[in-house]
Amino acid sequence: MKRSTGCGRLTLDDLDKEVCVAGWVNVRRDLGGLIFVELRDRSGKLQLVSDPNKNKDVHEKFVTLRNEFVLIAKGKVSQRPEGTAKSDQPTGQIEIYPTEIEILNTSRPMPFQLELGSQVDESLRLKYRYIDLRRKEMQKNLILRHRVTTAIRNYMDKHEFLDVETPILTKATPEGARDFLVPSRLVPGSWYALPQSPQLFKQTLMVSGLERYYQIARCFRDEDLRADRQPEFTQVDIEMSFADEEDIFEVAEGLLQQAFKEAEIDLKLPFPRLTYKEVMDRFGSDKPDLRFELEIKDLSEVAKNCEFRAFKQAVDDGGVLKALCLKGLAEKSSRKDLDTWQEQGKGFGAKALAWLSFKADGVKSSGIEKFFKPEEIQRMKELAGAEDGDIVLLVADSYKVVTNALGRLRLKLAEELNLIDESKHELLWVVDFPLFEYNEDEHRLEAVHHPFTSPRLEDLEHLETQPELARARAYDVVYNGCEIGGGSIRIHSKDVQSRVFSKIGLSEETAKEKFGFLLDALDSGAPPHGGIALGLDRLVMLLAGCKSIRDVIAFPKTQSGGCLLTDAPSAAPDEQLKELRLKMEKPPERVAQPAKVTADQS
Ligand code: AMO
Repeated sequence: MKRSTGCGRLTLDDLDKEVCVAGWVNVRRDLGGLIFVELRDRSGKLQLVSDPNKNKDVHEKFVTLRNEFVLIAKGKVSQRPEGTAKSDQPTGQIEIYPTEIEILNTSRPMPFQLELGSQVDESLRLKYRYIDLRRKEMQKNLILRHRVTTAIRNYMDKHEFLDVETPILTKATPEGARDFLVPSRLVPGSWYALPQSPQLFKQTLMVSGLERYYQIARCFRDEDLRADRQPEFTQVDIEMSFADEEDIFEVAEGLLQQAFKEAEIDLKLPFPRLTYKEVMDRFGSDKPDLRFELEIKDLSEVAKNCEFRAFKQAVDDGGVLKALCLKGLAEKSSRKDLDTWQEQGKGFGAKALAWLSFKADGVKSSGIEKFFKPEEIQRMKELAGAEDGDIVLLVADSYKVVTNALGRLRLKLAEELNLIDESKHELLWVVDFPLFEYNEDEHRLEAVHHPFTSPRLEDLEHLETQPELARARAYDVVYNGCEIGGGSIRIHSKDVQSRVFSKIGLSEETAKEKFGFLLDALDSGAPPHGGIALGLDRLVMLLAGCKSIRDVIAFPKTQSGGCLLTDAPSAAPDEQLKELRLKMEKPPERVAQPAKVTADQS
């Protein structure tokens, strides 16, 4: 027997056709006389029936069938009898009484029921991933992923980008995470690093005159995992020569429009652009979710002259007083709600969170109203955009603390108060990032994006004198509050690159040792160039409507970086360590895999 079609491909149009189908037993129901089998393959499900009075041989085989056995069957497509048809299923009108059946393989009992789907403990799903991937939802995700990558490849090809592969065994490429290292056997004591991104190779390709490069590239970052992060993940990595920001935006927007089409989402171009300062001021995040308003408002002018010490002190010390206005909640919220929001604010780093509630019978507050003149309360109400019936939540502290606390509270409240319009698809560019930020732990400047990002030309002069003021020619693309891509126009002058290295504390010697090849390449006729990388897993996760990146990756890692299917990482045999001239200080620990995949911390 040879399969002639897929289970889900048959319809009433195929009545009386002789077909041969193959697949897995999804469910088997024995009704005493008749036995029904729902046969499943990638295309869908089909009902097979055996009647002992029609075909004894076939029926004997049906008796032995169990869930997930693999079989192939031949027969004519027939219409289901009146009253047994299921109009909500694509093949619900038809069935087959096989004339011949062969059991291709048996199966042991399943570790979990497929129909229970995502209710099953995730560690069990990951351990038996081959079973989990039999589920329709998981196959749908992988099919969407395939369609998105195919659309991307077609788009890039049409726009004359060349797909070039870059090495996996390489030298460190800094993207802000730890490297994964691989010991070299041929040069004992030395190590390859797995690429955190193909950044330096794609820039080198521009120096080589390839002009337009892309790659669906695997990247490796040894960082703490969250729901939208994996230690190995995939980027749509792009680089263009003689390009400025506008060229990159145009390519990336067109590309995203094609990708979103695969999920039947029609994106309007161009995406809005907001500066880093604006998004931090208004939304307290560099990846703002624009599906709801709840903007952060600045009330510092009131704090400056008020009698309330905590507010005044914060502003006198160079800080700010900022607020979130909750519309129409004054009468609806209980004291307990207000206490909860205060606790949440503190949990997000605020020393305290005050509130004003504009009720019908007057202003209530967290005990602060007595410190303010009525006109000051009125001004705070105005600045916060509040009306009667609203609640205003206030935090005073340094800009960083207030922005972070209110930004996170904004997201929490949106979720709790159901403010998010799930039907919206809000994309935006965030531009004008600072070039550097101060790393308090290491007491040094570090690059906000990566150190190959060009400063704005007009800010070059600040590089030595006030580096914190220099703005980067960097941009992120954000979708519904998730960073799905980032990139920049690069430094293409050796001199500027050396100056940036020196600002982030790399001595000339270290810069040469780590990035000498880049400096030499920049000094060999490097064209102006720039690019972007889109996080493919994140993008597909959002397009598929999944909460976890693991649901769109065939074989993902757990939160502790393990693969439950293969048990990686695992100890290496002594022989292999000897060859690599490596010695373990302690016997290898049994890799601690969580009994459960713990809840995401993000
Ligand atoms: P960046 O580090 O911003 O830029 O990465 C680009 C995009 O990759 C995705 N991403 C991840 N996805 C899953 N798991 C991770 N651990 C992870 N880390 C990042 C994000 C992110 O926006 N070389 C630069 C790009 C450039 O400048 O062209 C880079 O890698 O969606």
